[in-house]
Amino acid sequence: MLFAGRVMVRSFLHKKSGLLQNLCTLKTLPYEQVMTHSQYDYVKSFEIPDPCLPNCWPVVRIDGKNFHKFSTAHNFEKPNDDRALKLMTAAATSVMGLLNDIVLAYGQSDEYSFVFKKKTKAYNRRASKLSSVVVSQFSTSYVYHWKKYFPELELQYPPAFDSRLVLYPCDKNLRDYLSWRQVDCHINNMYNYCFWKLVQSGLTHMESQERLKGTLSGDKNELLFSQFGINYNNLPQLHRKGTVIIRDKSENGDCAHGKSGKDKVTVVALNTDIIGKQFWEERPHLLAG
Ligand code: GTP
Ligand code: MG
Repeated sequence: MLFAGRVMVRSFLHKKSGLLQNLCTLKTLPYEQVMTHSQYDYVKSFEIPDPCLPNCWPVVRIDGKNFHKFSTAHNFEKPNDDRALKLMTAAATSVMGLLNDIVLAYGQSDEYSFVFKKKTKAYNRRASKLSSVVVSQFSTSYVYHWKKYFPELELQYPPAFDSRLVLYPCDKNLRDYLSWRQVDCHINNMYNYCFWKLVQSGLTHMESQERLKGTLSGDKNELLFSQFGINYNNLPQLHRKGTVIIRDKSENGDCAHGKSGKDKVTVVALNTDIIGKQFWEERPHLLAG
């Protein structure tokens, strides 16, 4: 009886919104309860659905915002700071702990790419949800783990990361994407090694840039070897190859635990080639979908 009375009061009050507000301010009825299915509902139609196309590989790439400045502000070692690279991998591991449908992550410098299962149903495949939850978990984890990797250094300001989601329609496109990122790692790393060696040898930034202008990979190899006695191929794989994170307990690599809520996921971080066939042939489950 009391319930029926309330419904009648509500429908009457809907017609008399001025009266409704007055009554609510007098605490006769909770305003929020009465206003469900109100004239404001139409605003939902502005939310455009953004589902990932079926059968495509969703890949979210995050990238540090203005990390040139961030690395300077935190005195990152040049050209590679192992602490910073490992912190990136710790943050990426945490993302994999949160989202079981990520089959693989690849990272270098201030970026990480996360490959979701082709058939993932996470967040109903909504692109904005997938992209935002990855970058959010990554950013908070980066800050959360900072002290572990930089125990002696206060974080000077909160770092930011952007993210984008791209769909790759076939396995070849996905592998080419990952190869592109690993080639980028190689090119940047080789250039940066040469650049900072030249600077350390006494050249200015401008002179070092000039010295490297127009040089090919072979020229840089030769420069490192003849001038600094460095064999590029002997430099750490972490720097030359970046890091690939997969879920496979039988692997030999750095084991890391991605923890989120009750879930504890064991993942493996490897510094290996992902361009050639071998990596994929040894792990057919990765492309199984
Ligand atoms: P936006 O991404 O466009 O915001 O600019 P960005 O400054 O972050 O540049 P970008 O992402 O193209 O490149 C990453 C930059 O981060 C590099 O150019 C370096 O300056 C810096 N960086 C990343 N990792 C390291 C590292 O291990 N050591 C040092 N010294 N710098 C690093
Ligand atoms: Mg960046």
